[in-house]
Amino acid sequence: MNKIGIYPGTFDPMTNGHLNIIIRSLKIVDKLIIGVADNLNKTPLLSIEERIDIIIKDLNANKLTEKNIEIYSVKGLLMEFAKEHNANCIIRGLRAVSDFEYEFQMTGMNYQLKPEVETVFLMSSDNNSFISSNLVKEVHKLGGDVSKFVSDNTIKVLNKKNK
Ligand code: COA
Repeated sequence: MNKIGIYPGTFDPMTNGHLNIIIRSLKIVDKLIIGVADNLNKTPLLSIEERIDIIIKDLNANKLTEKNIEIYSVKGLLMEFAKEHNANCIIRGLRAVSDFEYEFQMTGMNYQLKPEVETVFLMSSDNNSFISSNLVKEVHKLGGDVSKFVSDNTIKVLNKKNK
């Protein structure tokens, strides 16, 4: 049976931490769908198109385009998107204990909406556990070096935004 997984997120922007989860997810699903969504509690710096463009370029740069990965924007409920794409599971990265409560609530709500779709958590690898898109944006805006956390292409996009 084909296992279809969705890796949802705001990806504002995608970081090396997200990329690490994508690469590892490919070991457990046959097809990975990256769902670029809007979290109603966040005001993204980048448009959905800009975020998707970064993801495509980063996948290209990491020779992941030949893998079974698709990228879509998620409009509306994640669980409806999962149903439309016949997904078996949602994949999320867990960085620290502080992520747990938020993920626990979201997983519980999603389970109530669609119990047939499981949520699977992958622990962030050591060097990515402190990265967050917000911190990357803040450090970059204040002139810090974020090249360890995001791609060169992403830095170019952030440079343009912060001009
Ligand atoms: N390594 C490093 N950083 C990571 C990471 C990893 N492996 N995994 C997550 N992060 C960071 C991100 O950079 C981000 O940082 P930020 O908070 O500073 O922006 C944070 O952890 C989590 O963001 P992200 O993974 O991009 O997703 P999110 O939590 O913003 O996504 C959605 C939430 C989009 C999945 C959720 O809002 C959703 O499902 N929306 C659709 C609407 C819906 O169905 N709502 C009801 C939900 S019950």
